[in-house]
Amino acid sequence: MIDRPVLAITAQQSFGIVVALLVTVGWILYLVANVKKAKPEIGSELELAANRKPYLDDEGLEGPRLDRVLTWGLISLTLIGLGLPLYWLAEPGRQAGAVEDFDEVFASRGEGLFAATADGGFNCAGCHGGLAGVGGEVPYTLTDPETGQLRQVSWYAPSLNDVTLRMTDEQIYDVLVYGRPFSPMPAWGLEGGGPMNDQQLDNLIAYLHSIEITPEAAQEQAAELAEAELTSLQEAAGEEGAQSATIGAALFNTNCARCHTLGWSYEEAQRPGGGAMGPSLYNATNQFPDREEHIGFVSEGAENGERYGLNGQSNGRMPYFSQVLTSEQIAAIVEYERLLNEREQGRAEEIAGGQEADRGNAQEEAGAGGEDAEEDGGPSSSQSGQAGADELDDGEGGGGAEAGGAGEAGGAEAGGAGEAGGTGGAAGGGDQ
Ligand code: HEC
Ligand code: HEC
Repeated sequence: MIDRPVLAITAQQSFGIVVALLVTVGWILYLVANVKKAKPEIGSELELAANRKPYLDDEGLEGPRLDRVLTWGLISLTLIGLGLPLYWLAEPGRQAGAVEDFDEVFASRGEGLFAATADGGFNCAGCHGGLAGVGGEVPYTLTDPETGQLRQVSWYAPSLNDVTLRMTDEQIYDVLVYGRPFSPMPAWGLEGGGPMNDQQLDNLIAYLHSIEITPEAAQEQAAELAEAELTSLQEAAGEEGAQSATIGAALFNTNCARCHTLGWSYEEAQRPGGGAMGPSLYNATNQFPDREEHIGFVSEGAENGERYGLNGQSNGRMPYFSQVLTSEQIAAIVEYERLLNEREQGRAEEIAGGQEADRGNAQEEAGAGGEDAEEDGGPSSSQSGQAGADELDDGEGGGGAEAGGAGEAGGAEAGGAGEAGGTGGAAGGGDQ
C-alpha cells in the first residue's frame, strides 16, 4: 500500500504557492514604497497637503502615460480573455485526473486489504492465487451430512483477474459481504458477520478492477482451460460416468460446473448440471423453450429480482459470460446444456418405462446385476430413442451410481432396478 504523507503537495500546488507568495510580497513592497513616497517633508504641510500635490500636466496625462495605461489594460484583458477559455478547456481533464487519482488511491488501499496475511492483508491473495488473482486451491474441511464425519478436500478458488468481467460491482459486493456459505469463501462485510466496512469493500472492488485483464485475454484463457479439460474428458471417455467429450462439456466444466455440479470444486463431481449453489439445469429447456433466450441469459445474466425465461426470477447471483467467453463458446455450452436436459427428461421417462416393462419379467432380470442396470432401461423403454440419449447413457449410469449415497436421481435409478429385481436391487447398487 502506498502511504501518502498528509502534507504532500503536487507540483501544481507548489507552483501556485510560489506565485501567491510573489504576489503578496510584491504588494507589500508596493505599499511600503507608496507610503514612503507620499510622506511629506517636515514643515511642508501647508504647501504640500495630500490633496494639493502637484501632478502631471495635460500633455503628460494624455500622452505616453495614457498610452502606457491603455496598453497594460489591453494586455490584462487579453490575458483574461485567453486564460478563462483555456482554464475551461483544461477543467474536465483536471477533474478526470482527480477521479483517476482517487481510484488509484482506492485501488492501492484495496491492494493492501487483498494481500496475504504475512503482508498485513486479509489474505484474499492466499486463496485466490496471489496479488494477480489468477485462481488457486484452498484446503477445506467438509462435514458429511449423514455421518457427521470430517474430511479434508482441496477446493478450487476462482480467478479474480476476470471477475469484474463476469460480475457487476453489485454482485461482487454481495459475495464480499456475505461470502459463499458452504464454501471456503468467508463473509467479509459487517452485515455478513465479517470484519470489513463498506469503504474497505469498495477499495477491494477498485483493486479488482485494477487487476482486470482484457476480455480477449479472458477468452483465450477460457479456451486454453477448456482444451485441457477436453483432453481429460477424452481420456476418461470409456470409463463409467464419463461425460460426453465435447468442447461444450469441457467449457461447461471449466466455467459453470463449480456452481451447477455438486462437488465439482473438490474433484468429487456428481451428475453434471445436477445443481449445487446454482440450481439444477435439468429444467433449462422448460425455462428457455427458445434457445436464443437461453443464450441471452447465459450471456447477459439477470439482475436481482429480474424475471428470466418462462418462470425464472433471478436472485442476482448468476454471473454473465458475454465478456469472458466468445459467442461461439457460449453457444457450445448452451448446446451441451440443452442436450443434458433432453437426456434427463428422456431418462425420467426411461425409468418410468423401464419400471413398467420390468414388472413383467422381474425374476429374469434380478440376476443381471449393476452393470446391466442401465441397459435394461434402454431396450425395454419405448422412449429410449430420444434425441441424443445415447451419448450420456453411460455417463448417467455411472454418475447415478456415484451419486448413490447423496443424489436423489441415483437413488431413483437404483430403486428402479431394485423394484424390478425384487431382491436384486441392493446387489445392483452395491456393484457399482
Ligand atoms: C479461505 C480462502 C478464501 C479467502 C481468504 C478468500 N476467498 Fe474469495 N473465494 C474462495 C473460494 C473457494 C471461492 C469460490 C466459492 C465457490 O466455489 O462458490 C471464492 C469466491 C470469491 C468470489 C466470487 C467469484 C466467482 O466468480 O464466483 C469473489 C469476488 C471473491 N471470492 C473475492 C475474495 C476477496 C476480495 C477476498 C479477500 C477479502 C477473498 N475472496 C478471500 C476462497 C477464499
Ligand atoms: C457463481 C455461480 C454460478 C456460475 C459460475 C454459473 N451459474 Fe448459472 N446460475 C447460478 C445461480 C445462482 C442461478 C439462479 C438464477 C439467478 O440467480 O439468476 C443460475 C441459473 C442458471 C440458469 C437458469 C436455470 C433455471 O432453470 O432457472 C442457467 C441456464 C444457467 N445458470 C446456466 C449457466 C451456465 C451455462 C454457466 C456457465 C457458462 C453458469 N450458469 C455459471 C449460479 C452460477
